[in-house]
Amino acid sequence: MSITIKEIAELANVSSATVSKVLNDKAPYISDETKKRIFEIVNREGYIPNAVAKSLKVKSTKTIGIIIPDVMNLFFSELARGIEDAAEKRGYSVILCNSDNNEEKEKKYIQVLQEKMVDGIILTASEKSVERSLNMRKIPMVLLDRDINTDVKVGKIFVDNETGEYEACKYLIDKGIKEIAFISSNVISKSSSQRLSGYKKALLDNGIDVDEDLIYLDSYTIETGFNGVNEILKKRNFKGICCGNDLIAIGAINALEDKQINVPRDVKVIGFDDIQISKYINPPLTTVKQPIYQMGKEAVDMLINMIHGNEMEYEIILKTSLIERMSC
Ligand code: RIB
Repeated sequence: MSITIKEIAELANVSSATVSKVLNDKAPYISDETKKRIFEIVNREGYIPNAVAKSLKVKSTKTIGIIIPDVMNLFFSELARGIEDAAEKRGYSVILCNSDNNEEKEKKYIQVLQEKMVDGIILTASEKSVERSLNMRKIPMVLLDRDINTDVKVGKIFVDNETGEYEACKYLIDKGIKEIAFISSNVISKSSSQRLSGYKKALLDNGIDVDEDLIYLDSYTIETGFNGVNEILKKRNFKGICCGNDLIAIGAINALEDKQINVPRDVKVIGFDDIQISKYINPPLTTVKQPIYQMGKEAVDMLINMIHGNEMEYEIILKTSLIERMSC
């Protein structure tokens, strides 16, 4: 247990209020000799400020909570990195929670973070989350990357998923390909349903019918890519694949190689996210880049504005960009 302010005051032969003022640097009228004596005791005894007591007084813990759905997916670790860096620059600490795409865990973490008196929460919802009740206590919250319905006003930061996927599919069409598969997460998650509609719109805008046999939906995982290729090939051949994220693209490329189908000669594969490893896989992945790190920073700026009650834009839609590499 750390030495208390009361014990420091006794050792320094001053009042607790004097010690508190000196420690909070609000002691213009206290002599340097007294301050020096107090700090000698503080350093010698290893005083640790009581963050909770202080936070109760200033009604701020200078801590924000982050809930991400899948810590194994580099997209979310890069997102958490962007958040943590920006928070640290603004004098905030972060508490990171991984919901494993489990709604119950997500709800529990929202509760736990409130009990820990975080000043605000940045939530990337699970793939199956559609709505979340937040009116338990008005806690500033920013939805990052995935939109869900809430019963209180929250900040929102997403990318334009539909246009991003439209451009990916159009890129394959412009290379003369018509048989284009789409492998992604289930459409409960808004990011995936928006990407699916981008894919379909690009086909229809270019006079190509949508064939449901070329669409496979499950979750944002490597396994989905691997299984998707095998399931679709049981019904149809294809010359290109738009993947809902880079992990799916990695799984798809593995399944194609297993069948001695060469990427990009026989089938062209395009991802979504541009996570760190995408340029190092073989072949290096052509993908739709999301400004992942910047999304994290914007979320912190928006949340801290909400915490301070500042006037601000409550919704930011960021642009994606197509990164050409060797998989197409
Ligand atoms: O890779 C995870 C995917 O889920 C990303 O594309 C991100 O946008 C999220 O919704």
